[in-house]
Amino acid sequence: MTRKLFVTTALPYANAPFHIGHMMEYIQADIWVRFQRMQGSEVHFVGADDAHGAPIMIAAEKAGITPQQFVAQVAAGRPQYLNGFHIAFDNWHSTDGPENHALAQDIYRALRANELIDVKTIEQFFDPDKGMFLPDRFIKGECPKCGAADQYGDSCEVCGAVYAPTELKKPYSALSGATPVLKSSDHYFFRLSDPRCVEFLEQWTHTPGRLQPEVLNKIKEWFAKDEEGQGGLGDWDISRDAPYFGIEIPDAPGKYFYVWLDAPIGYLASLKNYFGKKGLDYDAFFADPAVEQIHFIGKDITYFHTLFWPAMLHFSGRKTPDKVNVHGFITVNGGQKMSKSRGTGISPLKYLELGMHPEWLRYYIAAKLNSRVEDLFMDPEDFM
Ligand code: MSP
Ligand code: ZN
Repeated sequence: MTRKLFVTTALPYANAPFHIGHMMEYIQADIWVRFQRMQGSEVHFVGADDAHGAPIMIAAEKAGITPQQFVAQVAAGRPQYLNGFHIAFDNWHSTDGPENHALAQDIYRALRANELIDVKTIEQFFDPDKGMFLPDRFIKGECPKCGAADQYGDSCEVCGAVYAPTELKKPYSALSGATPVLKSSDHYFFRLSDPRCVEFLEQWTHTPGRLQPEVLNKIKEWFAKDEEGQGGLGDWDISRDAPYFGIEIPDAPGKYFYVWLDAPIGYLASLKNYFGKKGLDYDAFFADPAVEQIHFIGKDITYFHTLFWPAMLHFSGRKTPDKVNVHGFITVNGGQKMSKSRGTGISPLKYLELGMHPEWLRYYIAAKLNSRVEDLFMDPEDFM
């Protein structure tokens, strides 16, 4: 039986080149897509850069260029990786594209019309020198539990404690060094705790074949309330105050969508952009009940893709994902998560420059991956 498939991988932050972890995800999805095409199925396989958010805005400022220029530079580097490892995306777009601005605002308006948006006043740390609210990662100080110095605003790397940035002792701004002050501001929330959302998500997540069993088990923990009725799905803060590199919230001057609101909408935007170029009918495609929407993601972003994303789609009157395939992390050096900041792992470009064949890595990854959410330890000996 041939299928009609809309397939995506997660949209990488446009603040750095790809590492082996990204390539693993693309190779997994690409092999699956090639198999489906060989079966005669119609497949639309798209990706995009995740362009928005405070870290990218700050990195651009440091580089003395606009955020648009910054993400364009990173985007220009993508093809050598994708072509180099034979990743056959039909389209590569950006979440800062016009399609995404329009779609994000449409989806928000529909959620608001459905009474799923609340405005609440919250207090947050504000950098008086920079004139901006500080994201958790840009506030540092002493851990409130163990007293370790230079810890981030969300968790302690020494004792593992998780806390709010306002609990830090001797807090300072990682941007200016200034002592942050508490300032209140209106924030927009998506009411995930609404009984309609909870009921819909219970049903969506439990649909057979949709999620891997271990993913569903994790989600059950997120749904669970304790004896006092606390816990369960919480409302989601979807706004950030200017200055912010993102999409403006309609009828809310100076407010932008939090990057994670518009990022998955970028899947639709990339498909729309692609269909525009091909002269295909985007609305007719999604109106076809035979279409299957399939996402490939890593385990760290499961919450966004199995709770927020289906709820956003459903309550804005759209088709929801049919399947979310979650993979573990590829690790090197004794199980460390790959990251540019830690400088671990071989760069995919270096691999190609050394003259190693892309199919070797594709084969290795295909042979090592399975359908479970397991980490893959890349051992050079084993690879040889
Ligand atoms: N921008 C978000 C995703 C938005 S999706 C609407 C993001 N970007 S990311 O660049 O940090 O990660 C992109 C993808 O790469 C995610 O699926 C993530 O899980 C995956 N990986 C990041 N490091 C990885 C490994 N070490 N191994 C395998 N996959 C890894 O999250
Ligand atoms: Zn600590």
